[in-house]
Amino acid sequence: MVNWTKTEKATITDIFSHLDYDDIGPKALSRCLIVYPWTQRYFSGFGNLYNAAAIIGNAKVAEHGIKVLHGLDLGLKKMDNIEAAYADLSSLHSEKLHVDPDNFKLLSDCITIVLAAKLGSAFTAETQATFQKFLGAVMSALGKQYH
Ligand code: HEM
Repeated sequence: MVNWTKTEKATITDIFSHLDYDDIGPKALSRCLIVYPWTQRYFSGFGNLYNAAAIIGNAKVAEHGIKVLHGLDLGLKKMDNIEAAYADLSSLHSEKLHVDPDNFKLLSDCITIVLAAKLGSAFTAETQATFQKFLGAVMSALGKQYH
């Protein structure tokens, strides 16, 4: 169970209230697929991921990036019980999709990097620390059903 200060909760709420899902989601997932090419193996149904341009231009990648980013809403709505919020998605990723949980950290780092590039100086070190704490809690919850 993760404890949040009032300031941390306010910071997370603020980030998500301005979050451009349709921009950040596709950019974060495509960056993950380009920088860590072994993550492509889970997306064989998405068609051409042959090079960076193909990944960035792939409509299925873009659509899924938005879906993944909206997956963070579950944690936002249940910050005091993040594990419960991700029970189903954790089972899906472990039992059905067999995604290696190390990859969660890679994708979450890409989300942080893309958000930082978008927010510029507004993305202070404190904001980053809080956002990474939130993503860390989500990733840990997503990893719970792995045994
Ligand atoms: C599906 C969220 C990380 C691979 C999904 C779905 C969501 C989601 C919401 C859709 C579930 C549904 O349709 O019911 C997340 C979140 C992640 C994360 C919040 C962490 C930030 C990853 C990673 C990989 C991955 C790191 C692999 C490298 C997949 C795959 C699917 C999926 C292959 C199914 C895609 C399809 O064929 O439609 N994820 N995911 N996920 N995720 Fe994740």
